[in-house]
Amino acid sequence: MKRFALTVLLAISAISFILAQSHDWENQTVLQINREQPRAESSMPKHCITLDGMWKFHWTKTPLEQPANFWLSDFDDSKWKLFPVPGDWEMNGFGTPIYSSSGYTFKINPPYVMGTPKEKYTAYEERNPTGCYRQTFSVPAGWKDKDIYIHFGAVSSAFYLWINGQKVGYSQGSMEPAEFNITQYITPSSDNLIALQVMKYSDGSYLEDQDMWRIAGIHRSVYLYAKEKLHIRDFGVRTILDDDYKDAELIIHPELDICQTSNYNLDNCFVEAELFDAEGRMVLDSVLRQNIVPILNLDHKASIMNDRNPQRGYPKWGWLKAMVRNPHKWTAESPYLYTLKLRLVDYNTVIDEEETKVGFRSVEIRDGMLLVNGKQVRLRGVNRHEMDPRKGHVMTEERMLRDIIMMKQANINAVRTCHYPNTPRFYELCDSLGLYVMDEADIEEHGLRGQLASDPSWTAAFLDRTQRMVIRDRNHPSIILWSLGNESGWGINFAATAAWIHEYDPTRYVHYEGAQGPDNIDPKSVDIISRFYPRTQDDYLNPGVKDADMERPENARWERLLSIAQKTNDNRPVLTSEYAHAMGNALGNMKEHWQEIYSNKRMLGGFIWEWADGGIWKGDCLAYGGDFGDYPNLKVFCIKGVITADQEPTPKYYEVKQIYSPLDFEYIDGKVKTIVRDETIDLQKYDIITKKQKGEFGDEYINIKASLKNKTPWADRGFTVFEKQITTRKAECCSSPSMVGEPAESMVGEMVPELVEGVESIGGTIPKFTEIPYEVHLRRAPLDNDKGFGNWIAKEWSKVNYEDSIDVKYEYAECKDGSMDVRVTFTPKGDIPPVPNYGVTLILNKELTNLSWYGRGLVEDYPDRQAATSIGRWKSTVAEQYFHFAKPQDGGHHSETYELAITDKKGHGYKITALDNPFVFSALPYSIRQLANTAHDCELKEEDKIFLNIDAAIMGIGNSSCGPGVLKKYALLEKQYTLHFNISRL
Ligand code: GAL
Ligand code: MG
Repeated sequence: MKRFALTVLLAISAISFILAQSHDWENQTVLQINREQPRAESSMPKHCITLDGMWKFHWTKTPLEQPANFWLSDFDDSKWKLFPVPGDWEMNGFGTPIYSSSGYTFKINPPYVMGTPKEKYTAYEERNPTGCYRQTFSVPAGWKDKDIYIHFGAVSSAFYLWINGQKVGYSQGSMEPAEFNITQYITPSSDNLIALQVMKYSDGSYLEDQDMWRIAGIHRSVYLYAKEKLHIRDFGVRTILDDDYKDAELIIHPELDICQTSNYNLDNCFVEAELFDAEGRMVLDSVLRQNIVPILNLDHKASIMNDRNPQRGYPKWGWLKAMVRNPHKWTAESPYLYTLKLRLVDYNTVIDEEETKVGFRSVEIRDGMLLVNGKQVRLRGVNRHEMDPRKGHVMTEERMLRDIIMMKQANINAVRTCHYPNTPRFYELCDSLGLYVMDEADIEEHGLRGQLASDPSWTAAFLDRTQRMVIRDRNHPSIILWSLGNESGWGINFAATAAWIHEYDPTRYVHYEGAQGPDNIDPKSVDIISRFYPRTQDDYLNPGVKDADMERPENARWERLLSIAQKTNDNRPVLTSEYAHAMGNALGNMKEHWQEIYSNKRMLGGFIWEWADGGIWKGDCLAYGGDFGDYPNLKVFCIKGVITADQEPTPKYYEVKQIYSPLDFEYIDGKVKTIVRDETIDLQKYDIITKKQKGEFGDEYINIKASLKNKTPWADRGFTVFEKQITTRKAECCSSPSMVGEPAESMVGEMVPELVEGVESIGGTIPKFTEIPYEVHLRRAPLDNDKGFGNWIAKEWSKVNYEDSIDVKYEYAECKDGSMDVRVTFTPKGDIPPVPNYGVTLILNKELTNLSWYGRGLVEDYPDRQAATSIGRWKSTVAEQYFHFAKPQDGGHHSETYELAITDKKGHGYKITALDNPFVFSALPYSIRQLANTAHDCELKEEDKIFLNIDAAIMGIGNSSCGPGVLKKYALLEKQYTLHFNISRL
């Protein structure tokens, strides 16, 4: 009876707490209850017990529907499902994943999240999905008398915690850790019950409006650990290099926790530190020791306070110090790590131990440059989200490792953790494999622009997220920059977080792209000038604009980065924290960006948007926004990676590798000159081999290759870091007579168009080759880049009928050897938007699957993305030609082709030889129409024909899916194009 009454009482209080006017999770001033202060973290501390595994789970569309008292020990959870921790609900069958780029998925009314949105919103039904969890655990006998903590790596977005039916606390922030001291709630001898209520939306969600899948759950590991009543709560480590960047001071700043119950003789208690090199040898002559009485200063002794935290001026930092003579320096190129062991001892008894890796390195901004250990560094970076197409925001060791290895192999040296702090293990891997990290706070209020940044009632929330990142991650050598957040305007709250970081961690610098001022005078609170999707100095294509002086807004909105760096009103380094929007078949003109970056010392480099595609597997289909009936959504805009969602390289990957090479070569006066793009590299690490190549068309080249002399943790010995082909003599096209003899019968004249079955546009057949229907090739299946933000060039294309606007003249000449000389001349009439390609499509029998060509290869190219190709004899098959982008689009071209043979298994087929000028070809099992009209790769069907596109020229790709369009020099602006080739049978 009593129990029943208690249950009712608890139920009533639970309901009233949920219905209360202001929930903790709809109140921007309640960020936590009873949560521990943040601390520096390693991924799995010593002596911890993991709670990862299957937990009892109950999901509902709102918090209001969750059963009352589910946190009590005698609650019957026998009907609850088992659910993985860590695990995201929507990836495991509960609720709908929503892909929103920049807009809240719930009704906007900060700090509230439960208002009624429009009916078509997913949140109309799934108003605030809530997961309740239950799990039992026991603690080892040895933990008696210790303080026991529970750690949650990341819970999205807000949660309450109960242990054994008692409420312990509350925390919010989807990508920050939360820890609670649960000692008083634990029963040491028996099973303990942990219960969690997790809400998908909270006031914190207003700061989590990042461009990504909106999925919730426990993203990261949960574990328990125990500490003595007196213990090292936290510690910071700094390495201060001397003016010659040779010797270094190692400084350690421990923070101790002591509970009232502790019975130590503090006079006998010391913090000790030892440093070991990578081979485990002791580095310091003696153990560093510091008595803890002054650290704790429990009596508040004036002398200690005057010394450590004086009335005026700076506090002292660090309690243990040592000079380290000429330590190995840490850079992304040579990531040498030492191990620091910290101990808390009482006489000779070890009470507590901590350990961290230490990298000796300095970061400075001097004279407009960013220096690591005194040497200038350019950030050859990518933006990386934590997203897996099967697991959502839950990261695995394998995925992180593969990302980093693929980055290192592509000469990437920097990562921005867009747009939130990552799982701690990621930074450990960056420390040990060598990547510079720009660590970004979990703050983006895109859908509210910059409103909350200027609202004092949100200052604590901004600070909370920033502090939890900086305190957690501050001991990682890989982190060189802190980023305040993303796309959230500028205001007092960022001024506060920047100031806090500058004082808390003077060893690094502060970045935030939203910190912009008029006339490029950006707020003083940031140390770096940062812009998105900048233009280069070149002229951009301006389709649909008659006035030559006018820029289309899609172009004009992006500033010219080099122009900012050339201004003398500021001397901060200039960075593009997002550029080269890699959506679909993309990454045009990276070369131009980097020529400019290397041309000016203030140019710090850039981070490509983004590293990996963000789709989710739905059966055999890689799904994107809207595919789950999710609303609002931004469709395929989540698929914009250099690599695929499954971490496979795309054609873009190879371009990045080339452009990001730390070495380059020039060939001057018969000599190869090495250009070092990164002052921190050691040239001794590379084998550089030069080879002469004689081509098939009178052409000659010098091929230079740099490969690794020794095995590294990310590549084997001999791995090719960079390859360059320098043309010393250009190829010459065959000319018609010398190649095929005198024309026997001339059939020069305009072709009479005839309609070929299945071919809608003007087509025909080549005389003597009437088995090959063909048509003009004046369109391309739009790239994501052709559609762009303003739906720019694809829209202009759709307004014209190219077939009527371009005069196409066909000329044929039969040659003695039975081959045909084909000349197609394209003359645009009037003013039409630039054409993607001038060519023809030959429609061939599907047995002709083997390709052998002399021209650019092996990967596909566009005029503004060719760095990874060279001219040579290449062999491939039609099946290998089309790269399967999640949303079908144009691709597979090989330019500067002099000769192409396309044959069946027996070697029968056709040879096409370029006359006058080399051509561009692609041989695909898909028509343009199919590529243009199919929404998902899984819906593409191989046709029973092969579409061989042969073009006089094709247009570049630019960056317009989010950024400026195609450079004029890579567009087809001449008035007339002629395609001239010879076709013969094989
Ligand atoms: C930026 C934003 C990124 C991403 C990108 C477009 O504005 O910071 O998160 O949305 O645009 O892909
Ligand atoms: Mg709150």
